[in-house]
Amino acid sequence: MLTAEENEVLCRVGPDTPMGRVLRRYWVPAFQLDDLPEPDCPPIRVTILGENFVAFRDTKERIGVLDELCCHRGASLVLGRVEDCGIRCLYHGWKYAVDGTILETPNLRSSRFKERVKHGSYPVRESGGLGWVYLGPPGTEPPFPEFRWADSEADEISVSEMILDCNWMQVLEGSIDSSHVGILHLDTLAVMGVGPRSVGSYEFAGDPWDTDMPVPAGGGVGWPSDDNAPKIEVENTPFGFHYAALRDVADDPGKRYVRITAFVMPYTAFVGTSNGAVIVVPRDDYSCSSYGVFMVPKGAGGGAARANANRGVDPSVWGPEPDRRRLRVPPQDREAMAAGRSFAGFRGGNRVQDAAVQMSSGRLYDRAKEHLVPADLAIIRLRRLFADSIRLVEEGKQPLGLGEGYNFADVAGATAVVNSETPWQDQVSGNRGVGEQKAGADA
Ligand code: FES
Ligand SMILES: [Fe+2]
Repeated sequence: MLTAEENEVLCRVGPDTPMGRVLRRYWVPAFQLDDLPEPDCPPIRVTILGENFVAFRDTKERIGVLDELCCHRGASLVLGRVEDCGIRCLYHGWKYAVDGTILETPNLRSSRFKERVKHGSYPVRESGGLGWVYLGPPGTEPPFPEFRWADSEADEISVSEMILDCNWMQVLEGSIDSSHVGILHLDTLAVMGVGPRSVGSYEFAGDPWDTDMPVPAGGGVGWPSDDNAPKIEVENTPFGFHYAALRDVADDPGKRYVRITAFVMPYTAFVGTSNGAVIVVPRDDYSCSSYGVFMVPKGAGGGAARANANRGVDPSVWGPEPDRRRLRVPPQDREAMAAGRSFAGFRGGNRVQDAAVQMSSGRLYDRAKEHLVPADLAIIRLRRLFADSIRLVEEGKQPLGLGEGYNFADVAGATAVVNSETPWQDQVSGNRGVGEQKAGADA
């Protein structure tokens, strides 16, 4: 439980908020590279952390991310023309380079003005199918997190984005919340033919009804457990923390079923696998983007996977531009629920089930009303890392989990059945490093 004040601090992300200052000290996954497919293509608006930017790819393929509003008199550069190594404002024709240099001011006789003024611009990196931006104070960029997908030659990258209309913390907490999987996602497990078949008095009376839902890749061991009260163990790492959800294995007391999630401060969770991650980024205080970035074997159709990333989700939930990626939760099928063919009643698999409950808490949930239990230990750790980082940044120090000297390609989640005596950490030895974090090197 948090006080109402602590909840506000945790959830608000604008530039003048404590959390906003922390979040700007990490590289921010900001947009899909697919949205800037070629030189001089149309620019896009990028909304992150409560601010709007324009992103464009210039004639030499460089990406620029600039403040959205022209620094002459504030027209949106999203309307602008991308041409001859720059973006030109439609209103009076001022033209900007990717680094914010003013190249031309056609409504001004003197050319000297443009040497004195520079438009707001931000460092950009391309990695894992995403454009990443650094919005923190100049010169404070931390090491860029080159995850294992950055130089994977054997795989293609599949990226999908879903925009959800609720505070990002509701979605982020859901990504490190193992104990809901065997409950909210009971239908998904049933379609996969694994896991528990019942929750409370609910039991499948027949086949689950949403049999064409997208199901997560197997990972080899299925879901060999009907234990819905996993023990959670959490440990800090150089990049944030990792945790294990430990479940009894059906019919084998000497074994346990282990699902390990690595959480990379402050946006990224490798959930039970090393093949990809869920990345949650605030657009503003009341909406966020949830990206899935996954490596798929070459030839298995990365492009097709990209196009089909939201397959199984009722097409009617997606609107036309600008709502092409904004999820509107489909109606709940109470008949299927009553007939024992669906526990949750939402077609479309885990992503829709997750989005339905996360948005159901309202636009910004007040955590003063919650009751945390041991199953929520990872969520408690997440909030502590943020609270400590806020304090450190207020003291002029660095936030936690910047991963100085750490090789981000080693970050891993894992799923395994192991002997009860075997430390779960053996499954993800690359996550280790400093153990408990050193708090607060000077910025
Ligand atoms: S407002 Fe952009 S050039 Fe005048
Ligand atoms: Fe989920």
